[in-house]
Amino acid sequence: MLRNTLLSFLAASTLCFGTGSIAQDKKAATSGGESGPATSSVPYTVKDGTKVDARTFQGWKTWRALACERCHGAEQEGLVGPSLIERLKVLSKEDFHQLMMHGRPEKGMPNFNGSTMVQNNWEGLYAYLKGRSDGQIKSGHLQPIGQ
Ligand code: HEC
Repeated sequence: MLRNTLLSFLAASTLCFGTGSIAQDKKAATSGGESGPATSSVPYTVKDGTKVDARTFQGWKTWRALACERCHGAEQEGLVGPSLIERLKVLSKEDFHQLMMHGRPEKGMPNFNGSTMVQNNWEGLYAYLKGRSDGQIKSGHLQPIGQ
């Protein structure tokens, strides 16, 4: 008898509060993601402008290996492609990912989804360019922190 009352109480409270808390859980789950608004912290670590965390270092190597500079300039200042110093101020991480995978061939920006290096390191590449755009990472040669 007591058990039944308890169960129906539980059922009723789930009905009342259920939807609200599910919605909240969902929100918490998405904003906990890398690109969510809750994680506005910078995606790179840099010391003295030239020493960066391992992931950002791989991103820089990817930048060099894929020769993005032939269109965006050695200092990301822009050539036939736009200045990435400027673009990274507004481009979201997710949009950057989409761009790397699909490019914008009709506008002259190639896609890089055929590159394993880009597939593995696009986040580091984003971090590197973000650091350049923020003025925190210097142009030119980088070293991984601790070496
Ligand atoms: C063959 C020339 C070329 C190469 C190589 C190239 N890009 Fe681009 N990129 C462009 C052009 C042109 C645009 C402008 C596209 C547009 O007008 O929408 C662009 C746009 C961009 C943008 C800005 C997109 C936006 O919405 O603001 C980013 C970021 C970018 N490129 C990153 C890269 C990276 C990283 C590499 C190397 C992996 C690379 N690009 C290699 C030509 C190039």
